Amino acid sequence: MESSSVFGVRLSLKQRYFLLLCITAAAIIVYQFTSRPKLTRMSRVEGLRADSSHFTLERKPFRILGGSIHYFRVPRAYWEDRMLKLKACGLNTITTYVPWNLHEPQRGVYDFKDQLDLEAYLRLAAKLDLWVILRPGPYICAEWDLGGLPSWLLRDHNMRLRTTYSGFTKAVNAFFDQLIKKVVPFQYSEGGPIIAVQVENEYGSYAKDEEYMHFIKEALLSRGITELLLTSDNKEGLKLGGVKGALETINFQKLSLSDLTHLDAIQPQKPKMVMEYWSGWFDLWGGLHHVYTAEDMLPVVTEILKLDMSINLYMFHGGTNFGFMNGALAVGVPASKPMVTSYDYDAPLSEAGDYTTKYHLLRNLFSHYHTQPLPELPPLQERRAYQPVVMQQHLSLWDSLHFADKPFKSELPVNMENLPVNNNNGQSYGYTLYETAINSGGTLNSKNNIRDRALVFVDKQFVGVLDYKVQKLALPDGKGKRTLSLLVENCGRVNYGKTLDEQRKGLVGDIQLNQHLLRDFIIHSLDMKPGFVNRLESSGHWMSMRQRPSFPGFFQAKLHVDSYPKDTFIKLSGWSKGVVFINGKNLGRYWSIGPQQTLYVPGPWLHRGANQVIVFEEQETDGKIQFASSPDYGMTVDVQ
Ligand code: GLA
Repeated sequence: MESSSVFGVRLSLKQRYFLLLCITAAAIIVYQFTSRPKLTRMSRVEGLRADSSHFTLERKPFRILGGSIHYFRVPRAYWEDRMLKLKACGLNTITTYVPWNLHEPQRGVYDFKDQLDLEAYLRLAAKLDLWVILRPGPYICAEWDLGGLPSWLLRDHNMRLRTTYSGFTKAVNAFFDQLIKKVVPFQYSEGGPIIAVQVENEYGSYAKDEEYMHFIKEALLSRGITELLLTSDNKEGLKLGGVKGALETINFQKLSLSDLTHLDAIQPQKPKMVMEYWSGWFDLWGGLHHVYTAEDMLPVVTEILKLDMSINLYMFHGGTNFGFMNGALAVGVPASKPMVTSYDYDAPLSEAGDYTTKYHLLRNLFSHYHTQPLPELPPLQERRAYQPVVMQQHLSLWDSLHFADKPFKSELPVNMENLPVNNNNGQSYGYTLYETAINSGGTLNSKNNIRDRALVFVDKQFVGVLDYKVQKLALPDGKGKRTLSLLVENCGRVNYGKTLDEQRKGLVGDIQLNQHLLRDFIIHSLDMKPGFVNRLESSGHWMSMRQRPSFPGFFQAKLHVDSYPKDTFIKLSGWSKGVVFINGKNLGRYWSIGPQQTLYVPGPWLHRGANQVIVFEEQETDGKIQFASSPDYGMTVDVQ
């Protein structure tokens, strides 16, 4: 009989076939076990159902005890820590939005890696035996720039966001083609953790198009979503927010029985769920830090549970609006007030993952709804107040322009989103510098076309600030041709309300000098993306701090970390307004008007040795940055 040797062992043809068969079978098993998101829940019959006054899972009564943690607001290295803390609080479900603007930064360019690896997040939830309610939007509100919609949508001047306008539906379809196929294998029926999927977000408060909710629902179903569908609305939105085939849920902070009766009337004999039980609130620059005390909160949560309702704590852990991702609150048209960088939210788990009084009280409460003891509390992350760091070098804004995209010439002012940058997707975030020549001083009138704030310079000399309140500025007289520069900051787009279509930034129309319309602009886009920050860092243009810095400008220093890097907070006491980058990562904006006084620096974003700190500052510095081991969110006010 024919035989040959495998690893030195002589085998017959039959034996070799058998070996091949075994190897193939083993490979199939390994593939199954590594490619499927969840393998321990193989014998599934029926997922989450809402067929009577309470939910069932696997045909047994089930109560959702949920908490929101947004993967895009928490450093990836801490996802597991935060989820374990959620579990140890007695919660069984994690809920998250999906931020379209981060996943599709340019039309047709998708990013689901690293910090945005949604599949890894879902896999982790499954590993920790947590259920997931996915809230894929496409609009998510969430105190997030434009409620998570990509700003390039606004390049179309006829755009009607959150409607069945074809320019919008086409973009949603393209995004959902990418997103939904990633999450389908993580559904309950596929062995995954997703037990429900939310259709849009609080559409009842927007309700500009009767067809729209149906479109979004079909966009999910046609791409393979099979789990329970939900909608989520505040009391006023309930009437118009629903869509046939999806369970309506309610959002609130104070419990009112009449709201529940209202929900019952709209939707009798269905499980009741508070999809967003607001555990705290968000803050605005120039305002106070909102707190919602544990004493106020606990009786409400207790009552919700007594009423046999399901609950999701929004937020369980807020995290941070890193970068330029904060949203804004509309305060009339077009004025808005931007949200701060921290999204601590006064939630049960703090911005840096600390337990709060609320956490402990809730844990005690939820423990009564479990038959088994709750898991031990995971240990806290260590914190450190590093020694103050003295700034070593500076580089003026004007010198930094060499490292930005090529400027663009235009007779008329052009808004950020319509600039021919980023492969013709426009500029999304940050600052835009508009320059033009002037021959006289006089009254500069913004005609309220500045979104949102501009520092004004004549021949690089600071003249003043224009914003929604101040629309006129006296420019000094001078001889000959001079350069007028407007450094316009997009402070964050409105994320809630009816004005989403009007969220274009930069100069959105004409400005005048002595009633003459200004023309012939040179426009620099300064979105301060990592590429730009890296080019800056390695440039030879930096000057020593012995030479007087000019403002606005970049300042750099090294933070030396001699042991394992720990979490910390940056304090910029002698500075006025700007942005901080650590090792190229944008930590977010700071502003001396507060309330927020410290920026969260996650330990995993630091390394042993020298860490590069770059600060972009608009107006002043005391030349050093300080660190603190606990945050300062400013003067507090109780949530009303
Ligand atoms: C609404 C939205 C959330 C969030 C909260 C306030 O309920 O659905 O995304 O904006 O308000 O924090």
